[in-house]
Amino acid sequence: MCGIVAVTGYKKALPLLLNGLGKLEYRGYDSAGIAIIHSETKNIVCNKTEGKLKNLINNLSEKNIPGTVGIGHTRWATHGKPEVKNAHPHIDSSGTVAVVQNGIIENFQDLKNKLQKEGIIFNSDTDTEVIPHLIQRELNTLSKLKLENNGSTLLVAVRNVISDLEGSYALAVLWSGAPSSLVVARRQAPLIIGLGEGEFICASDTPAIANFTNIILPLEDEEIALLTPLGIEIYDSNNERQYRNPVSLKVSEQVIDKMNFKHFMLKEIYDQPDTAKNWLENYLIKNSENGQYQIKYPFDTKFLESIARIEIIACGTSKHAAMVGSFLLEQFSGIPTNVYYASEFRYSPPPLLPNTLTIGVSQSGETADTIAAIDMEIKRRSIAGDEKFRPNLIAITNRSESSIGRQVSNIIDICAGIEVGVAATKTFFAQLLSFYGLAIHFAQIKGSQSPDEIKKLITELIKLPPLLEDLLEKHDQSSEKLAHDFFNIKDVIFLGRGINYPIALEGALKLKEISYIHAAGYPAGEMKHGPIALLDKKVPVISIASPGEVFDKVISNAQEAKARDSYLIGIAPECNGTEIFDYLMKIPSSNEWVSPLLNIVPLQLLSYHIAAHRGLDVDQPRNLAKSVTVE
Ligand code: F6R
Repeated sequence: MCGIVAVTGYKKALPLLLNGLGKLEYRGYDSAGIAIIHSETKNIVCNKTEGKLKNLINNLSEKNIPGTVGIGHTRWATHGKPEVKNAHPHIDSSGTVAVVQNGIIENFQDLKNKLQKEGIIFNSDTDTEVIPHLIQRELNTLSKLKLENNGSTLLVAVRNVISDLEGSYALAVLWSGAPSSLVVARRQAPLIIGLGEGEFICASDTPAIANFTNIILPLEDEEIALLTPLGIEIYDSNNERQYRNPVSLKVSEQVIDKMNFKHFMLKEIYDQPDTAKNWLENYLIKNSENGQYQIKYPFDTKFLESIARIEIIACGTSKHAAMVGSFLLEQFSGIPTNVYYASEFRYSPPPLLPNTLTIGVSQSGETADTIAAIDMEIKRRSIAGDEKFRPNLIAITNRSESSIGRQVSNIIDICAGIEVGVAATKTFFAQLLSFYGLAIHFAQIKGSQSPDEIKKLITELIKLPPLLEDLLEKHDQSSEKLAHDFFNIKDVIFLGRGINYPIALEGALKLKEISYIHAAGYPAGEMKHGPIALLDKKVPVISIASPGEVFDKVISNAQEAKARDSYLIGIAPECNGTEIFDYLMKIPSSNEWVSPLLNIVPLQLLSYHIAAHRGLDVDQPRNLAKSVTVE
């Protein structure tokens, strides 16, 4: 949440900052701003606007700000409304220190009270504004020690200030007293330094850097760095200088193109057949000796043999993928599995149980709740002391270089490529595939399924790419037509059972987050225990009915909705029983185990078309951000 870009070097800062911010706008788009050290006057020139980045770009179009050192920010509001006064950068009263920040300063009110008592006047409602004032106060103190005005002095001032901050932050600081220096620091929020040609560019995420360089230096938690055109100094929280080698960005990180699609979300829905192909290529290998398929992981899987139970921690869409995963791991692989909201797990963890595998699922790898929950689990298991309680961890993420990627050493990279649309689509699909891989792996090592059953599932997975292409072709237009009839509805109920119950939840989440239509997902059998009271002819019901264990039950539940005059949309193959639906979004017949991978596609398309038909900003829905880096 919130995107930071900061640059120092020999090139003009403004275009670098605006370009970088453009790539980070998915992190927040409530307001945007930049501050640059003017190359002649050495003063800080700041410009901020409310709303999307395009407002800032328009505002700056006639302005030429000469300067090669600057910071920029795109905001997702936490403290203070999305207004210009709350936009970053924030500047101290003397106008010499500018700060952009991502995260939340939890003790800001205490700090603000103290500063106000000292006579400091605040211009915003943000937590961030305390930082430039505190840095300026610290610089004043340091000046009494006759320290030179240079980057090292700024580094000391920032270090002293952050030691008083509680909460999480990634921040970048400019000071007109050291006009070619930049100080950046992070705690529980990401920050990456790109080593360009003639500039260092620091940002919250790699897309902002990828246009300039593919060599990066991720800053570790609690580190602080001084950047000047001549080099970088990194220090840890003990003030020890850190030396490490830069790493290369993956090529896939560098391509962010909407192609001919109207929105990134639609393109990303269409990417899914390739997502399936990539997964099959990356993770499924055929043993040339016995012809058997195996799941290939980039880590030693020996430790999985002693696992007796699994806990999965995730948020939002990732949690829905985890719920499908939990169904597979229990029902296919026979391992007791629980899924937890990361935000709940952290404060009410289950009792410690032995031989447990903890799986963290996060597309971005930066979700603060998930990071904190994994961290807490690692700590409490490490201090338990007993070998059987040791932390066994896997993370499933699309960003192996992210905070979670660095927190957990066994990474399943879902390899979906950058997802720009705020609503997760192809990454959900790729997370699902990762769970199929884990379920197959566990079924093989635990012997919970016969080799034939396992082979059947693998054969169905191999068939996915053409089936998905077919689904996209069939349903893009039909869901557009359906959207035409439904774009004005107020409430929608999604029903599913068994392995498709999480798909009902995900269908509802997709619809509400991009179309702002109220939608709720229920296990179909639960409807009669309350939600049925909502039904009438104004409330359509979308029912996922995949042939298998619970098909007849789902159809009966759909009948109950029809009897209350609801318009019924079925997500099902054409078969006996599905005549009941007023509209059938046909799904190819498949084994019930893989049905979620097919059922999700028309639901994504339907949500997309309803939101597009309503003329909404599909890729950047209101109030949301792609990485939720605050708790
Ligand atoms: C929904 C969506 C969010 C995220 C959630 C977790 O489309 O994108 O619900 O799934 O914020 O994000 P990650 O997976 O990055 O941890």
